[in-house]
Amino acid sequence: MFIVFEGGEGSGKSTQAAQLADAVSALGQVPLVTREPGGSPLAERIRDIILDDASRDIPAEAEALLFAAARADHVAEVIRPALARGDVVICDRYIDSSAAYQGAARGLGVQRIRDLSMWATGGLAPDLTVVLDVDPAVGLARARDANRLERESREFHRAVRAAFLGFAAADPDRYTVVSAGQPAAEVGEQVWRRVAPLMEQR
Ligand code: TYD
Repeated sequence: MFIVFEGGEGSGKSTQAAQLADAVSALGQVPLVTREPGGSPLAERIRDIILDDASRDIPAEAEALLFAAARADHVAEVIRPALARGDVVICDRYIDSSAAYQGAARGLGVQRIRDLSMWATGGLAPDLTVVLDVDPAVGLARARDANRLERESREFHRAVRAAFLGFAAADPDRYTVVSAGQPAAEVGEQVWRRVAPLMEQR
């Protein structure tokens, strides 16, 4: 089982990923919490390059390829082995982040960016994607230590939000949207309501 949290800056993805992992453990299943960009030794090194201010002027295409390269390693080294063991993999961001940030907001094209990551991962798609939806004005105020991408314009972050909502609306079986503007416990309950039936099917 492969569950992904997506959403803008300050939407509480890492808190929710940890909370979901606790609920999964309570059922006697083994959760593996991981994140992108990063999640494997090579991908964490690529993460440092991508988010570093010194990378300010890298072309959008190079940025997209770096995210995809990190993802290829993360999937091969960490996610696929965990899924093969039967763990419940919970990932903070995945292909939809590239589709929303690089494909939509940077204008490289959602389909092309999706195709690139599908190639990089051997076509590994999540069973469920939880979009934690928050107004960028609220999310950016919550987010600490701003990185290179967080410092993009308000308009950029509005495009990211619209992209995530569009992906979810197009495929309700594989997505759920939860408002992140409520207390974390409430958000967690709504996430669990959607995940619990999937866990029971296992
Ligand atoms: P991070 O500090 O992990 O942000 P957050 O806590 O909001 O998840 O930084 C990751 C940044 O990289 C974030 O701004 C989103 C962006 N990103 C992309 O642009 N494309 C991608 O494929 C991924 C995984 C992240």
